Amino acid sequence: MSKTSASFTCTGCGASYRKWAGRCDACGAWNTIVEEAPLSKGPGAKALTTRGKAVPLSDLSSEDAPLPRLASGMGEFDRVLGGGLVPASAILVGGDPGIGKSTLLLQAAASFARAGAKVLYISGEEASAQVRMRAQRLGLTDAPVQLGAETALRDILTTLDTERPALAVIDSIQTMWLDTVESAPGSVSQVRAAAHELVTFAKRRGVAVILVGHVTKEGQIAGPRVVEHMVDTVLYFEGERGHQFRILRSVKNRFGPADEIGVFEMTGAGLSEVANPSALFLSARDAPAPGSAVFAGIEGTRPVLTEIQALVSPAPPGSPRRTVVGLDSGRLSTILAVLEARCGIPFTGLDVFLNVAGGLRVSEPAADLAVAAALLSAREDVALPTDMVLFGEISLSGALRPVGQTENRLKEAQKLGFSQAVVPARSRLGGADAIRVREMTDLTAVVGEMFGA
Ligand code: TYD
Ligand code: MG
Repeated sequence: MSKTSASFTCTGCGASYRKWAGRCDACGAWNTIVEEAPLSKGPGAKALTTRGKAVPLSDLSSEDAPLPRLASGMGEFDRVLGGGLVPASAILVGGDPGIGKSTLLLQAAASFARAGAKVLYISGEEASAQVRMRAQRLGLTDAPVQLGAETALRDILTTLDTERPALAVIDSIQTMWLDTVESAPGSVSQVRAAAHELVTFAKRRGVAVILVGHVTKEGQIAGPRVVEHMVDTVLYFEGERGHQFRILRSVKNRFGPADEIGVFEMTGAGLSEVANPSALFLSARDAPAPGSAVFAGIEGTRPVLTEIQALVSPAPPGSPRRTVVGLDSGRLSTILAVLEARCGIPFTGLDVFLNVAGGLRVSEPAADLAVAAALLSAREDVALPTDMVLFGEISLSGALRPVGQTENRLKEAQKLGFSQAVVPARSRLGGADAIRVREMTDLTAVVGEMFGA
């Protein structure tokens, strides 16, 4: 039996039927089956017509040319999406409350609208007047975005179905509720059901949806990780409170590179894009200071230079403190252990504080060498030259391992006026002639040559 003629759908679970029924066989819910207009246009309908017919992969390019991506013109946002918004895709934007998600998405919605796309922004947290006030503050009142303040998902889906925007922003998924689900809005089952409805709708009707999700203290999108599995793209909006920098990071993307970042700065008039993050992250550096090392890293597809800061001080009796911001604390423990076991430099009896300046989160193992250098510099009270960058992975034996994209890292450093680099031996060099590169085989060499210990 073909499903193409189905015109009744369960709003609870999305199951399709050819006839109306009082109870959905698939999910057991009562009175959830509603009539749907027959599928006509849109990528969903197109996929159905080719169902059951295998086509060579090579043919798809000509027959089913992918719909062009929508660019918002907001460069940092488009970059994180992998070059713009894929039509009919579902995107989750997660982040701590108050980090700036609503601000970001209102700005993005306005950008898409100005670029000619039909955009609906639905807020379940603020009244339309409040959203308009925010838009005024952001200078977006002229953008042709349709606003809605609604939390009843069924009404929202009806609106979306009649309006058929290219993009709908749902702020936030935790405020949405379906009357078919018993529990309160924000509960796992509500969030899951609402997300499922919206994602299914996105695919079926060719509407791209962006879901906003608050992150709980445990660092999860409140309620279910399930939402992350349902959507095509998961973006996190992060930053340290009190810092003006905000990073939009893609942690999953079916249509682009994961780990891509977009950098923004929170100002009095909303978020402004930061096209050259390295300059920003390094901007506060002045005189040489012990405990500071510049790491030439790669974030997504572009090089980003950041300052790693360490502070080492005598610890009171008891177990010393290990405080890390912006880096993995397990990685710090490993590097401290390698310094002690392979280089004979213990940190026992010393408190260690480690920080990535500017609020960036660094997860590359390539940061090991810069972390070790910052720690040694702090411990020995010897400042590193201000024009030096470092990168390289440290293995448990203390050996330095080459990392990818050496050229890009060095080029970025050269562009920002750095003139020397310390890198692992056997790195594939090139591309930056104005930088004096020192290759080192292991951490002991770094200690001996740079700190004379
Ligand atoms: P918001 O977008 O409401 O955060 P979220 O939706 O993630 O909860 O942003 C709230 C914070 O942003 C608030 O502390 C004020 C700040 N902000 C600015 O600094 N400048 C602005 O132009 C706007 C609109 C907000
Ligand atoms: Mg908000």
